[in-house]
Amino acid sequence: MDDKNKVHFVGAGPGNPKLITVMGRELLERADLVVYAGSLVNPKVLDYSNGEKIDSYGLTLDEITKTMADHVKAGKMVVRLHSGDPSLYGSVIEQMNELKKYGIKVERVPGVSSVFASAAALNTQLTLNGVSDTLIITRPAGKTLEKDDINELSRHNATMAVFLGTQKIGEIMNKVEYPQDTPVAVVFHASWDDEQVICGTVADIAQKVKDAGIKRSAMIIIGGVVDPVNYRRSHLYGVAQEPL
Ligand SMILES: C[S@@+](CC[C@H](N)C(=O)[O-])C[C@H]1O[C@@H](n2cnc3c(N)ncnc32)[C@H](O)[C@@H]1O
Repeated sequence: MDDKNKVHFVGAGPGNPKLITVMGRELLERADLVVYAGSLVNPKVLDYSNGEKIDSYGLTLDEITKTMADHVKAGKMVVRLHSGDPSLYGSVIEQMNELKKYGIKVERVPGVSSVFASAAALNTQLTLNGVSDTLIITRPAGKTLEKDDINELSRHNATMAVFLGTQKIGEIMNKVEYPQDTPVAVVFHASWDDEQVICGTVADIAQKVKDAGIKRSAMIIIGGVVDPVNYRRSHLYGVAQEPL
C-alpha cells in the first residue's frame, strides 16, 4: 500500500486504546513517525506504534508541519494523531494548508469523539425523544477564542456538550439560561481507566467539580438527557414503519 507520500490525520479516540478504529490502529502500526496531541492522547494508544514519537505540545505550527513534511519527503510513513475525532477542536485545517505548501497530501481517518465516550459513560443518549432532539457542541472563550456564544446557545433547551471548559465551569454555569435544576454531568477522562463522572445541576455542579479536584480533560454535558425521566418512546421498536 502506498501510504508514504502523505500525512495521515488519525483520530485516536477518547482514550481507551480499543476505541481507535481498525484503520487508525493499522496506520499506527505501520508509522515511522507519530506526531501526537500531548496529554490528550492516552500513551496506551501510542503503544501500537514502534515508530518515532513526537509530542506536539508546545511546538509551533511551522515546527509541526515542517517535521512532518521532512519525514514524508524522506520516504517515511507519517501519522498525525489527534484525540477523539480530529474534526472537533483539532486544528487540522491549518496543518493541512501548511502541508499543501510543501506539496504534501493528507488522508483523514475519523475517531470516536470524547463527547460520545461521555454519553457512553453516562449510559444515556445525547438526543432523546421528548427531552431534546438537538445537540449543541461548543466551548467557552479562552486563550484561543475571544468570545463564546454559550449564553445565546443555552436558550434552546437543547443538550449542550461543552469542550475545553472544566476550568471555567463556574463561569459557564453563571452564563447559561437553563433552569437552575437542569441536570449537568462532568465526565473526566471518559473511557480511560481513571474515568470519573460527577453529576449535579446547573446550581451545584461547579462546586462538586471543584471538590473533586477536576481541572481538565473533562466533558460538560448539560440537559435533561443527563437524567432522563420524562422521555417519550421512540416507537422504533415493535411498530412496522418505513426505513428512516
Ligand atoms: C482540544 S479538545 C479535543 C477534542 C477531541 N477532538 C474529541 O473529539 O474528543 C480537548 C477537550 O476535549 C475534551 N476531552 C478530550 N478527551 C476527553 C475524555 N477522554 N473525556 C472527557 N473529555 C475529553 C475535554 O473537554 C478537553 O478539554
